[in-house]
Formats: sequence, C-alpha cells, structure tokens
Amino acid sequence: MPELSSQISSAVTKLKSGKIVAFPTETVYGLGADISIPSAVNRIYEVKERPANHPLIIHFSRISQLEYWAQEIPKAARKLAEHFWPGPLTIILPRTHHVSLNVTGGQDMVGLRIPGHPTALALLDAMGPERALAAPSANRFGRISPTTAAHVFDELGDKIDMILDGGPCKIGIESTIVSFKDNSTIVLRPGGIPVTKLVEVLDEEILLAVDKQSDIRVSGSLNSHYAPLTPLEVWPNTSLWKRSAELEEQGLYPMLLGWSTKFHTKCKNKNSKHFSMPKEPIAYGSQLYATLRRFDNEQYDRLLLEAPPNDPDWLAVLDRLQRASCVPFIKT
Ligand code: TXA
Ligand code: MG
Repeated sequence: MPELSSQISSAVTKLKSGKIVAFPTETVYGLGADISIPSAVNRIYEVKERPANHPLIIHFSRISQLEYWAQEIPKAARKLAEHFWPGPLTIILPRTHHVSLNVTGGQDMVGLRIPGHPTALALLDAMGPERALAAPSANRFGRISPTTAAHVFDELGDKIDMILDGGPCKIGIESTIVSFKDNSTIVLRPGGIPVTKLVEVLDEEILLAVDKQSDIRVSGSLNSHYAPLTPLEVWPNTSLWKRSAELEEQGLYPMLLGWSTKFHTKCKNKNSKHFSMPKEPIAYGSQLYATLRRFDNEQYDRLLLEAPPNDPDWLAVLDRLQRASCVPFIKT
C-alpha cells in the first residue's frame, strides 16, 4: 500500500478535481466532497441516495477558520468548539456566503466540525485554507454508518473514487450535534460526546431536541435510520427470553445481544445464539455498528437486543437503537 502521505496527496488531487473520497474520522467514515464544487456535492447526494434537502456537515482543520464559514457565533458555541475540537462535536451556526445552499439543503444554517482523527486532519490541512469537505457518513441513506474502510467498500466501493483507510473508528458512533437558540443550547443528535460532558463545560442546562418534533431537518431524526436489513427489536431483559422463545416457536432464528450480568448468567442456561456487548456505554457505542453489520451479514431472522439502561450516559446508544428498531421501543 502506498505511504499515507502519498495517499493523502492523491486524495487531495481527486477532491480538488471534483471527485468524492471516503476518509476516516474518529466517529465514523465520512464521504467527502470539496464544498466549493457543486457537482461534487451533488454526487454525494446521488451516491448515498439521500434526499437533497438533508444538510451536510462541513469538516475543516483549523478553529481559526470558523468565522470564514459561520457567523453570529454565540459564546456557548465558541466555548464548546474550543473545548471539544478536534473531536466528535458538530455545531450548527448561521452560514457565511462561503457555504452554498446545496451543502445546507437550502437552509441558512450550517453544521461544522473539526474531526479528531490524524488522517482526517492531515487530509483537511492538505486541502489548504478556505477549503472544507462536506462529509456525511459513508453509507447509503438510512443504513448503518461504516466504522472501517472495509464497511465503506462493501457499501459504496463501486460508486466512489477513493477510500482512505485509517483503521477502525475509535468512537464508532456519530458526532453530537448542537444548535443554539435564544441563549439556549440544544442537542439535536446525541453522539460521541456525552451530554453530561457538554453540561460540565458550559455549566448550564442543555435542552434535548431528540424527543420533540423539530422544524429543523436532521436526517438522523427520521424513523428507521441507522438500521440493519435484519429486523431488529429491543426488549428489556425481563421480556427478551420470552420473545426469543416466541420467535423460535415460529421456526425463526434470533440472535440475542446483551450487555448486563443478568444477560450473561441467563445465556449460560439457554441454547439461543447470543453475543456479549460491553457493559459500559462508550465501549458499547464504539462496537455497536460493527457488531450490527457483522450479524446482519449472517443468516439470522431477527436481532434481539437487550435494552440499555435509561441513563444520560447511554443517550447516544439509546437514540440509535430506537431508530434501528422495527418495534416500539420500551425504555427500561
Ligand atoms: O460524526 C459525524 O457527524 C459524521 C462524520 C463523518 O463526521 N457525519 C455524519 O454526517 O454523521 P451525516 O450526514 O450522516 O449526519 C449529519 C446529520 C444529519 O442528520 C443532518 O441532517 C444534520 O447532521 N445536519 C447537518 N447540517 C445541519 C443543519 N444545518 N441543521 C440541522 N441539522 C444538520
Ligand atoms: Mg449518516
């Protein structure tokens, strides 16, 4: 394999000529296009089969460039950016004229992020100042985000111009998206940075938009998103085994995924196929997508997941499972 630096120069040449390149971030792999080239941005929508009114996050490498892309920056936004960038935080701010409407799905607000991955930062730096990459997760619309280069290849390999391989993504779940309105800070999508950490840094209350109807379009807030093809159900530990037995009686093969000690103990006495997830939310989140992909590729009829605790530290995982689930989700 060519050296990373030569792969990065080759990626930059491609991106500057309007091609689209997948690259690693600390959250998930992104599918990048130079935001100053409308045809490249349009290709992202085509390849992902993503509706044109769903905005893209723009990625850049230097906080000194923030004012080039965004304006009317509230104190809270600056504080979060300075504290968490580079890292899994996206902030939504009014765009400047340097960000065109085809990137923002026609909105005057833009999502911005400096990713915390050395390959992403090297690529963005090599693009040069006043350049940014629009990068949604490198999966087809509605599907599970990729956390390795192989996942990107499986899903979009024949449709995109290059994949930069930076190994498995450490965080494994998308960035936390935050917006600001009338002096309030609102979490639109829980993600890699736990909401409790945001509260610590801002030292003020934070609102959660996840359970409310919002007029802001966030594609990840549609039902049936981040979903495997195998139907997925989430059940409290107490009902998991009953559900598994029900499916087995119908001649179906479920795969059970749990995290608690209770789950592990019960598994020892049952024949059902099962898999142990980490007990701790950050580790669980980092393995979630890769695990769902793995079992989606095996021939199970159903993925049965033990519901995680209804606890603020599990918000990002709860949110993704709620959207991936094909039955109403009962929080424990
Ligand atoms: O971790 C991440 O955020 C990854 C990596 C690649 O950076 N990117 C990612 O992008 O998850 P995507 O497009 O799959 O999800 C971005 C979400 C979408 O739900 C989109 O609607 C929302 O961000 N978004 C982007 N710009 C927005 C805006 N101006 N207002 C409201 N939501 C916005
Ligand atoms: Mg996505």
